Amino acid sequence: MEVKIGFIGFGTVGRGFAEILVNKKEYLSERYGIEWKVVAIADPVWGMIHNPDGIDLKKAVELVDSGQKIESLGETGWDSIKVARESEADVIVEVTPTNIKNGEPGLTHIREALSAKKHVITTNKGPIALAYKELKALADSNGVKLGFEGTVLAGTPALNLARWPLGGVYFEEVRGIVNGTTNYILTNMEAGRSYEEVLKEAQKLGYAEADPTADVEGFDAMAKVLILANVLFDANLKVDDVERVGITHLTVEDIEKAKSEGKRWKLLAKVWREGDVVKAKVSPEMVGKNDPLFHIMGVTNALVFKTDHLGEVTIIGPGAGRTATGHALLADLIEIFGR
Ligand code: HSE
Repeated sequence: MEVKIGFIGFGTVGRGFAEILVNKKEYLSERYGIEWKVVAIADPVWGMIHNPDGIDLKKAVELVDSGQKIESLGETGWDSIKVARESEADVIVEVTPTNIKNGEPGLTHIREALSAKKHVITTNKGPIALAYKELKALADSNGVKLGFEGTVLAGTPALNLARWPLGGVYFEEVRGIVNGTTNYILTNMEAGRSYEEVLKEAQKLGYAEADPTADVEGFDAMAKVLILANVLFDANLKVDDVERVGITHLTVEDIEKAKSEGKRWKLLAKVWREGDVVKAKVSPEMVGKNDPLFHIMGVTNALVFKTDHLGEVTIIGPGAGRTATGHALLADLIEIFGR
């Protein structure tokens, strides 16, 4: 089937997905019957373009990767709202930067696209953390889908695992490492490198948020625990309900002390139940060798699902990065349109 795609945002993740689409064009057609065409791209830095005959996506990625605008590849005069409302797209890829304060501009883009009866796939954590239930209801009432697999653990299928294969279990607790940047920093600090140097590297590798304060102060992990709580535990937690501590106060001495005790620091995210109340928090903790999370290093993430009748299920995999996050959008696309 022909699938017309509109990109809102064309940063690291958007281009990661675009690159996968280009590289897997034939495979997607043969295996899943998906014949894609990109009809619009709206990015405030790189350009806002529209082309109902299909934008040259390979060229668009090459241009932006080399710091050039994409305006030569389509008709200009479009903006993100117009793409969401008026373009021919069957699905909007919403990949603008996460904003955990008010979810914008992603929240408006998603509302507009769903209201225009377009499917939405997104890795944008803000809108899902702040307004999951509203957006899900909006998608349902318009007969379209909202895919957001990449908002937690990037392309590692944590949410899909929890929602489908683990469907019907009752989650008692979910605990894990959900931020790649901070785990990468802690791993490298343990190896003797400086915080500043490693943070810069994580930014260069496309792991960190546009504003990396979101990673190191725990806001990104907080968005992910809100998503876990509200989607998997059916809670209605808000930002103020989550206790949040980042890693910025950890010193080289703290890290050495943990090492001397055979432990290491991890930024842990946790959602659990206390009676009927769902609780969530993000904070650095020292973990020992018997904890499965002790062994999760670098940009890798992991989640341990504690369930009622299946015991503990653990998922481990890439937690950030251009292709790793782009993959989640591919999974969402195939779920909606694949045969
Ligand atoms: N900045 C995030 C991280 C990206 O480091 O985990 C993936 O959500």
